[in-house]
Amino acid sequence: MIVIGHRGARGIRPENTLSSFKEALKYVKAVELDVYICKTGEVVVIHDDTVDRTTNGHGRVEEMTFEDLKKLDQGMGERIPTLREVLDLINKRAIVSIELKGKGTASAIKDIISEYLSKGWKEENFAVSSFDHEELEKFHHLCHSIRTGVLIEDDESDYIGIAKRINAFSINPPLKMVDEGFIKRVHESGFKVFVWTVNEKKDAERLKQFGVDGIITDYPNKF
Ligand code: G3P
Ligand code: CA
Repeated sequence: MIVIGHRGARGIRPENTLSSFKEALKYVKAVELDVYICKTGEVVVIHDDTVDRTTNGHGRVEEMTFEDLKKLDQGMGERIPTLREVLDLINKRAIVSIELKGKGTASAIKDIISEYLSKGWKEENFAVSSFDHEELEKFHHLCHSIRTGVLIEDDESDYIGIAKRINAFSINPPLKMVDEGFIKRVHESGFKVFVWTVNEKKDAERLKQFGVDGIITDYPNKF
């Protein structure tokens, strides 16, 4: 069972910051992060479509320049990083699972991944996921060789159908959706199961017994 640091180590550091990823690297070999494209075109690592919750500023990420974003404090003196800054910090020491949050991120992420593949990163160093299945499908069409994960929030979508259509590697459900039967069904369809967000040891133990492939946790230090 692989352990993936959620937004780095968001339980113990400001989420999606260089400090959060540095901390996660002490414990795990995979991290998850979220991306948007800001007004000046940089791919930035931030979870929400606004900066309001995680910084001392206000505004929509896609309407702010990178210079504006860089001025904001995310706590503990941390700034909003670009994806390139995070990749340079990680420097192939962990798998980076990139969640496409903003529109247009599929194409930008394909370009950045290609750039890092030419710098010696391996395809297995990356994964790309999204709740936005259209954006994820776009990514798959642009880049067949990178593993994709279909993120789901509930039972409403035909997630197995979507995963088959884009030849996904995994289906990533919330903890509340998962029981032994779910994992069995998804495995029988040929996909891995990565569950979010698992912060309690007892839940991780239960999932491990069910044969889960990975957990995404705010506390990589616990596992
Ligand atoms: O990848 C799992 C998890 O990150 C999905 O939810 O809201 O934390 O991006 P969220
Ligand atoms: Ca995420």
